[in-house]
Amino acid sequence: MPVTIRPIPGAFAGEASGVDLRQPLTAADYAAIEAGMDTHAVLVFRNQPITDEQQMTFTKGFGELEGAAGGGLRKPGDYRLAAAMVDVSNLDKDNKILPRDDRRRLFNLGNQLWHSDGSFRAKPPTYSILSGRVVAEKGGNTEFADMRAAWDDLDDETKAMAEPLITEHSQIYSRGSLGFSGLTEEELKQFTPVRQRLVTTHPVSKRKSLYLSSHIGSIIGWPVPEGRAFIRELAEHATQPKYVYSHKWTAGDLVIWDNRTTMHRVRRFDDSKPRDMRRTTVAGTTMTVEQAKAA
Ligand code: OGA
Ligand code: MN
Repeated sequence: MPVTIRPIPGAFAGEASGVDLRQPLTAADYAAIEAGMDTHAVLVFRNQPITDEQQMTFTKGFGELEGAAGGGLRKPGDYRLAAAMVDVSNLDKDNKILPRDDRRRLFNLGNQLWHSDGSFRAKPPTYSILSGRVVAEKGGNTEFADMRAAWDDLDDETKAMAEPLITEHSQIYSRGSLGFSGLTEEELKQFTPVRQRLVTTHPVSKRKSLYLSSHIGSIIGWPVPEGRAFIRELAEHATQPKYVYSHKWTAGDLVIWDNRTTMHRVRRFDDSKPRDMRRTTVAGTTMTVEQAKAA
């Protein structure tokens, strides 16, 4: 059966059906999914109870896997999942719920801030693929905001101001904004800020997007508070309900989003119960702008 993609009523996201992601996909299947992604930027697949192995195989059809390394506080000996998987659960490596004050949990709370995955990487990822294995009963929706529509609706003056700007991204800033501190020297080094364009163009659709993320800490050449105030203004504009699709999870759902054209966040949920969400990520191959030379 060919892949079919339908718009989700009232949302920019699409729903894909007619494909079993546990099985190898044909080139035509991948092409149909990519075309759906170029249009919708977020695709929901229902009823896809896949294994990690199947999720990694499916993901590799879009490009190289970007693993957990460099993305968070968990170190290799501490991984619950294979290093090529990104663990966005609230569980430790023995499948126990992380204690309330565990620094890995406190760091993960940053996912409740609007962000684009890996915007702190010099070559940021393209797609993220999130599989809901154990989902929250209440809360825990993942929300997505369409950064293309948000760009389109800006007035010309704001567009002209934003277009040439370069921002600096690091998890130091997103976590710092929640009051998370105490990163080690090694972690601070791992989270050295990278530069990104504030306005990007999608390579296929050619649509422009605001490239926003809670990881932004400054605009190059601007006083820090002025830069952050402008970024906050843009983010408030871009995350108005009219640009947002909220996904309520059922176990077995799999959602793909394009980090180049969307932001997302998870809503609060009861962290005393397991929520087992597993992400694979398609590594980016290009920078949005040249990086600064190391001092
Ligand atoms: C992610 C993420 C949100 C969620 O996987 O990148 O932000 O709903 N997850 O767990
Ligand atoms: Mn994320």
